[in-house]
Amino acid sequence: MTAALPAPTAAAAAPSRWWRDAVIYQVYVRSFADSDGDGVGDLPGITARLPHLAALGVDAVWLTPFYASPQADGGYDVADYREVDPLFGTLADADRLIATAHEHGLRVIVDVVPNHTSDRHAWFRGALAGGPERDLYHFRPGKGTDGQLPPNDWESVFGGPAWTRTTDPDGTPGDWYLHLFAPQQPDLNWENPAVHAEFDSILRFWLERGVDGFRVDVAHGMVKAPGMPDIGAREQAKMIGSQVLPFFDQDGVHAVHRNWRRLLESYGGERIGVAEAWAPSPERLALYVRPDELHQAFNFQFLGCPWDAEAMRAVVDASLAAAGSVGAPTTWVLSNHDVVRHLSRYGAGDDALGLRRARAAALLMLALPGSAYLYQGEELGLPEVTDLPDEVRQDPSFFRTDGQDGLRDGCRVPIPWEGEEAPYGFGTAAGWLPQPASWRSLSVAAQTGDADSTLELYRRALRLRKELDGLGDGGMRWQQSPPGLLDLVRPGFRCTLNTGPLPVQLPRPGSLLLSSAHLAADGETITLPADSCAWWAI
Ligand code: GLC
Repeated sequence: MTAALPAPTAAAAAPSRWWRDAVIYQVYVRSFADSDGDGVGDLPGITARLPHLAALGVDAVWLTPFYASPQADGGYDVADYREVDPLFGTLADADRLIATAHEHGLRVIVDVVPNHTSDRHAWFRGALAGGPERDLYHFRPGKGTDGQLPPNDWESVFGGPAWTRTTDPDGTPGDWYLHLFAPQQPDLNWENPAVHAEFDSILRFWLERGVDGFRVDVAHGMVKAPGMPDIGAREQAKMIGSQVLPFFDQDGVHAVHRNWRRLLESYGGERIGVAEAWAPSPERLALYVRPDELHQAFNFQFLGCPWDAEAMRAVVDASLAAAGSVGAPTTWVLSNHDVVRHLSRYGAGDDALGLRRARAAALLMLALPGSAYLYQGEELGLPEVTDLPDEVRQDPSFFRTDGQDGLRDGCRVPIPWEGEEAPYGFGTAAGWLPQPASWRSLSVAAQTGDADSTLELYRRALRLRKELDGLGDGGMRWQQSPPGLLDLVRPGFRCTLNTGPLPVQLPRPGSLLLSSAHLAADGETITLPADSCAWWAI
């Protein structure tokens, strides 16, 4: 076991600024470990598996929402922010998880979902019944002669209109309410001070239970442009990464984050906020991590970058420059519960190729300055599951888009721990999504001790990252390199990446620390295979 974390106190000593180079492991709660045999992962399951995360060498875990929820969107539809859903356990289980993680030296970050509640939240029920809670959401009369058309042309991120018409208590058609995601996720009205007060209180509730920070869901969404103007274009979800829309990345959201920063700092122990913010450029993303706002923001530009040395170098440079301009650390992320696993993105149908690239990408990511987010199962080299039968799918975006999309179940399949048959130690019953038979050889137990396995590669990389002075937070520079190659230098350290389809010969860059593939050496010349990465001490 690693050293336990000191109990946070208001009078903490010099800050460690731990988050600036932390490796944070995302646990998708439903799919990590099932302790009670219902096929769904839960909090006691996670607690029992914390030694795996401590041995892997990460600094913190981020838990996806485990709050009371009808699960219309995997728990991102919260009915009660201060209760644990019985599917996942109890408040006592959450307390135990937090305490055990701290004993293992792991910090705990939980999700907070402020853009919307569940339609089963007491507030929304009150609103539908015509109570004063209506002003906590966005209700508007419809357009057209009978109000039969939505109030504006905004589209839901999950497809279809972002508005649903309600029925008045007397049974007649009523106003429409806004939901940027599923209809079961009504958007809150952040113009109302009661919404601010409630979320301050929710944050305090979890901070007092000992959490080390929050991942802020849809941190760019809470404030809508005055008057909610039409956009005048279809397929708005595709515009999110490239322009400011009247419902996303409005300047007004920053006041919320400033307030939360003050709240976080009023607690000891360096508690952090990390923004899930989809901003059109690294510069606009950097606004979320100004010194008086959140501590980190996910770097989706890096996640979206193709397997190409030039493109990667450009994203790394732009990310470092933008975050650096406000004094924030950069973050790096390759996968999460909303996107196709990077092994499958890079492999485009060829899992062996994808695995080579995924291993190399992990070494690049962990060599870069800043903080890195790992998504559960990437340390096992799990591919996306692409052949899930429609009847087991649960992602609302699948159903809202006539089954054309549905990209988010294939990365949420329960992870394999051990054993010869499904569910491979995930629990005692079949998991909520079926695991492929090929995952037998990808389990934690199957890979442990196999020096060539992806799990051992991650373990060694994380150990080295801690041991080597100069990795983590700090500077870097590029060494000039042939096309298709990246050659990055940090104090005492060098990382060479070959994204090209052919092996490349190089003068030996230093003494080999770790590589994602076997390297051949001939005297002072080494051969870096196609799609591989190596770390060197210099
Ligand atoms: C975030 C979550 C995603 C969820 C959405 C709505 O993007 O990561 O899973 O569906 O917010 O809450």
